[in-house]
This record gives sequence, C-alpha cells and structure tokens, in this order.
Amino acid sequence: MSTILAIESSCDETSASVCRDGKILSNYIANQQVHEQYGGVVPELASRAHMQNIVPVVDVGIRQAGIGLQDLDAIAFTQAPGLIGSLLVGSQFAKSLALALNKPLIAVHHMQAHVLANLIPEQKPSFPFLCLTVSGGHTQIVVAKSPADLKVIGETLDDAAGEAFDKSAKLLGLPYPGGPLIDKYAREGNPKRFSFAEPQIAALDFSFSGVKTSILYFLQKEIKANEDFIKENLADLCASIQHTIVSILLKKYKKAALQTGITELCIAGGVSANSGLRKAFEEMCRQNGWQSFIPAFEYCTDNAAMIAITAYHKYLAGEFAPLSSTASARASWD
Ligand code: KG4
Ligand code: ZN
Repeated sequence: MSTILAIESSCDETSASVCRDGKILSNYIANQQVHEQYGGVVPELASRAHMQNIVPVVDVGIRQAGIGLQDLDAIAFTQAPGLIGSLLVGSQFAKSLALALNKPLIAVHHMQAHVLANLIPEQKPSFPFLCLTVSGGHTQIVVAKSPADLKVIGETLDDAAGEAFDKSAKLLGLPYPGGPLIDKYAREGNPKRFSFAEPQIAALDFSFSGVKTSILYFLQKEIKANEDFIKENLADLCASIQHTIVSILLKKYKKAALQTGITELCIAGGVSANSGLRKAFEEMCRQNGWQSFIPAFEYCTDNAAMIAITAYHKYLAGEFAPLSSTASARASWD
C-alpha cells in the first residue's frame, strides 16, 4: 500500500492531490484570479498567492481524500520547470512536511507529469505510446516506453501552442487566459472563413510565432477598413484561428505516429482541453485505426493528480529525492 500526497505549484494554480496505490482520491485546485487584470501571469503575485493558498489547499486535499497526515507514505512535489518563486513555495512546503512526518520525498518533472496524467483513468494506454503535450509554456511530442522512459522527439522552436492561443486572443481583445475563450466562441464560428499561414518546419518540430504575426497583420489591415471588424466576426475569427493551430499540431502528430509506428496516441496539457483539438484528434485516430486517449478536463490543465500518479510510479521504482533537492525554473528532460 502507498498513500502519496502531491503538491503542484509551478505556475498560477495551487493544487494538492492524494493518490493511493495509483488511484486518485482527491485533486483540489485553487486558481489565482489576480493575474487577469494584467493580461498574463505576474510571477511575484503568483508566488504570494501560493503562499496564501498552500496550507488550506493541502488541508482540503487531505480531507477530501478521507485520510489524515499519519496515513501518508511519501510527499511529492513539482520540482521543475516553472516559475521559480512559485515552485519554491510548493517544494519548501513539501520538504518541510516530509521532514516533520519523517517520510520520503519525491521530486516530479511537470512536463513528464502531464504525459503520465494519461495513466490516471481505468482505460489507459499501454506502453509504448505517444503523447502530444500542449500547454502554456510547452509543445512536445513524447515517446513513452515506460513511466521512467519518456523521450521528446519534437518540440516548438518558439511560442507554445497555449501561447499561440493566448496571444491570438489578446489580439482579439479577449482577457487572459484567452485559450478557453477562443474555444468557446469558435463553437459558433466558421473555421474555413479566414486562413492563416501555416509554418513549414523540418522534422517533428513546431513553430507558432509566424501564425501570430500573420493574424496580427491580417487584423491590422481589416480594422483599417472597418473598426468593428473583430466584434462583427469574432466567432469566425476564433474558429479560424483554432482551426489553424489544431491543424499545425495534428499534421506533426500524424507524422510522428507514422514515423514511429506507435498506434496508441494521447494528448495532454492545458490545450488538450480544447474542444476543437479533442474532436480533430479523435477523428485523426479513427481514420488511421489508432487508439486515442484524452485525460479528463481536470487532469489536462495544471493539477496535482498528475504529479501524484507520476510520484506513484517513482515510489514503486524507489526513486526518492533528498531533502537537499531544490526547485528549478528549467530542467533537462532526463
Ligand atoms: O498546462 P497548463 O494548464 O499550464 C501550463 O503548464 O502552461 O496550460 C495552460 C494553457 C494556457 O495557454 C491556456 O490558454 C490553455 O492552456 N488552454 C486552452 C484551453 N484551456 C486551457 N487553450 C485552448 N482551448 C482551451 N479550451
Ligand atoms: Zn502544465
């Protein structure tokens, strides 16, 4: 039996989850509204909000799991990558608790945890599988041969897919984070109404900065002729932008599947909550006879359950971290 408490604090969500023998018992997430007025996450404000949130969030996570601190066998935390101040709050808290309870500590890589979020449900992929991880800071295609053997075979050279959504939304005058709003308005729009240039990037890598520039120039031109252009065409603009981003992602993902011959495909990360991507991904898999896996919404965006499931596999492998381990803004994948 293993009961693990996991803490996630890499960006602007404070989250705590308890996992018992690979089963998630709780996953409590506190969002931070303070950033909305600034159009993006303000790192110092994020750290301060984590400081306020961490004790009550862990308390709720433990209580919702129906356990007590004495039941814990290990404490896990997000070590990297992320905002350093935010990571420090979670890691220092986890280390203090591990020391106080005399329990082992488990350090987890946030991007690997996004991939392994696919191991949470009963219906999970078998190894080897592929994962397209699309978040606010990363866009990666990963080959997963085992929980401990994850290899990046393609990634973005500039903006991440989430950034492409958020920056496009900003150009449309939508508040941060704009990704979910583009998704919402896109439902009413025509995805073929406007077309934006797709990049020609070698191998399995991505680029999104050109798309953003092409949207900017297009809007500048149209607004000159009609200052209400965005307001009058919001749904079609959102649908067309979403269609372009999804198309860039899935063309490369399909290429990766064909190249590797792997037929079990997952998506993960905040952008995998996007309804257009989910639908097109499932359709692509269906057409090619591949099996598709998508985590539940609460496990797509940042959450501690994905840290907990990753920690569970590390626990089984006896992979513990010393109390001297520190958080890091950047981290090598290995
Ligand atoms: O994985 P995540 O929660 O945090 C990071 O680790 O970055 O991803 C956040 C990103 C943001 O860019 C947000 O706009 C995007 O995920 N996102 C979406 C949707 N929900 C979240 N983008 C498009 N459509 C959505 N429904
Ligand atoms: Zn994330």
